[in-house]
Amino acid sequence: MASALVSSTVLSVFLVFVATVSAQTPPAAAPSGPLNFTGILDKNGQYTYFLRFLADTQVDSQIQNQLKTTTEGFTVFAPTDNAFNNLKPGLVNSLDEQKKVQMVLYHVLPKYYSLNDLQFASNPVRTQATGQDGAIFGLNFTGQNNQVNVSSGVVETLVNNALYQKKPLAVYQLDKVLFPEEFFEAKSPAGAPSPATTKKPSEPKSSSKASEPAAADNSGSSGRNIGLGLAIGIALACMGFLS
Ligand SMILES: *[C@@H]1O[C@H](CO)[C@@H](O)[C@H](O)[C@H]1NC(C)=O
Ligand SMILES: *[C@@H]1O[C@H](CO)[C@@H](O)[C@H](O)[C@H]1NC(C)=O
Ligand SMILES: *[C@@H]1O[C@H](CO)[C@@H](O)[C@H](O)[C@H]1NC(C)=O
Repeated sequence: MASALVSSTVLSVFLVFVATVSAQTPPAAAPSGPLNFTGILDKNGQYTYFLRFLADTQVDSQIQNQLKTTTEGFTVFAPTDNAFNNLKPGLVNSLDEQKKVQMVLYHVLPKYYSLNDLQFASNPVRTQATGQDGAIFGLNFTGQNNQVNVSSGVVETLVNNALYQKKPLAVYQLDKVLFPEEFFEAKSPAGAPSPATTKKPSEPKSSSKASEPAAADNSGSSGRNIGLGLAIGIALACMGFLS
């Protein structure tokens, strides 16, 4: 009787053990394939602009590669296509390559933050974007009642639903594109040529009507020369780039 009890106990322990092991095996095999960063955005269908910027700047492959080894993880804020459509027309196209990279990296934090972490993060939180002087661009987060806002100083928006939230990667939706304050400070000397061009129309006033066609001719040929010089310059630059 006693031995029957013992053996049935042993048997049930054994069965529980077998059941536990077999129950554990499928979940271990479950994570189907590696974590696919762009796949998360791609399957959603409303991040085509952001995906294009990620690809153009190769930030997508950088993140994908670093996800394999990172201990800190990453947090990515993904502006929707609507967010890009709501920007001032031409704004994004006016950014040079360096600024495009900065803009994309400004949406990436080199650390995994759950939505709750963001609520209590100490501001400013460092992003992956840096200025020309190497200064790190930061973002400020403010939380209330489980809602978190992100602010760049010039743009503030709600951190919307998590598309993915599992260490090492968090991806959140944004309804606005974040731009660092630094983009809008200190206009570069690129603005200088416009006063020069506005001066030009005053020149014909002082010259006589007869000389005008000649002046127009001159400006026309010098325009062509500038065009030719520019073409040669670009060609040389391309050769330099290739060699
Ligand atoms: C990740 O997903 C994208 C888009 O769905 C796909 O094109 C790409 O091949 C995937 N990459 C990997 C490594 O599975
Ligand atoms: C988030 O920003 C919105 C405006 O964009 C504002 O109405 C709201 O109060 C902010 N919430 C927090 C928690 O700062
Ligand atoms: C973050 O907040 C601090 C303190 O209020 C402020 O000085 C800083 O400019 C803010 N930075 C951004 C990126 O909003």
